[in-house]
Amino acid sequence: MNGRGPVGPPRSGPVRSPATRRAGGDPLIRLFHVSKSYGPGSVALRDLSVEVRKGELVFLSGPSGAGKTTLMKLLFAAERPTEGQILVLGRNVARLGERRIPALRRRIGVVFQDFKLIQTRSIEENVALALQVLGRPPREVRSKAFAMLRRVGLQHRRHELPAALSGGEQQRVALARALVNEPAILLADEPTGNLDAELTIEIMDLVAAAAARGTTVLVATHDQALIRRYARRTLRLAGGRLLEDIPGGSI
Ligand SMILES: Nc1ncnc2c1ncn2[C@@H]1O[C@H](COP(=O)(O)OP(=O)(O)OP(=O)(O)O)[C@@H](O)[C@H]1O
Ligand SMILES: [Mg+2]
Repeated sequence: MNGRGPVGPPRSGPVRSPATRRAGGDPLIRLFHVSKSYGPGSVALRDLSVEVRKGELVFLSGPSGAGKTTLMKLLFAAERPTEGQILVLGRNVARLGERRIPALRRRIGVVFQDFKLIQTRSIEENVALALQVLGRPPREVRSKAFAMLRRVGLQHRRHELPAALSGGEQQRVALARALVNEPAILLADEPTGNLDAELTIEIMDLVAAAAARGTTVLVATHDQALIRRYARRTLRLAGGRLLEDIPGGSI
């Protein structure tokens, strides 16, 4: 075909394009031989190389201490790698200057297991704050916060304080806050860790919907049943190493 002859398996072999192009999306996240050590004897990630494309939903699985949270922290420059290169949205975050970090974080939504809502502010204010800090005009802030709360089914609770909501509802608010700015990337670290099975699915459906709208999503979880149910690509970590990169649909 191109003078190099047939390479790889007959039907879907990567004759001229890498997997990234086959799937259509550009890699938004690329790690090259990344290691992270927090100090002597505390190696959290070892020689990790991986790419994640636009619109992918990828699970990070692995036992406690595997390096899942560390990987997420590296992606939004909360930690720096000890070795290797990390490209996020085309920026080299391993070397990003402090002054350029806020611009990166504006494009990344983050949800943690302990959702860290501001307890003295209403649900709506919690979500709106994510836009206010970007200096968006008040009208836009109000309408986007309302639309986002409607998407997670909590618009009728918008004037209440977080403490008045259940754990699952609060996690939906945290997700709304992470997504209101339409981030390119959503990092969700054990977003369903404290929730029962039904609420877990509710949250994961919202996360999957964000991926379907084009957000690139990483979800760290111990929950194997969740991974099986959604059958998305899964990076299996242990002891800081990438043990397996399991494609979606095959779990
Ligand atoms: N700030 C830190 N200082 C020192 N060591 C750390 C720090 N954060 C993480 N580690 C170590 O790095 C390793 C990976 O931790 P990490 O939090 O990334 O794991 P994890 O996969 O998220 O685990 P879990 O499932 O328990 O959340 C662990 O051995 C941990 O003790
Ligand atoms: Mg963790």
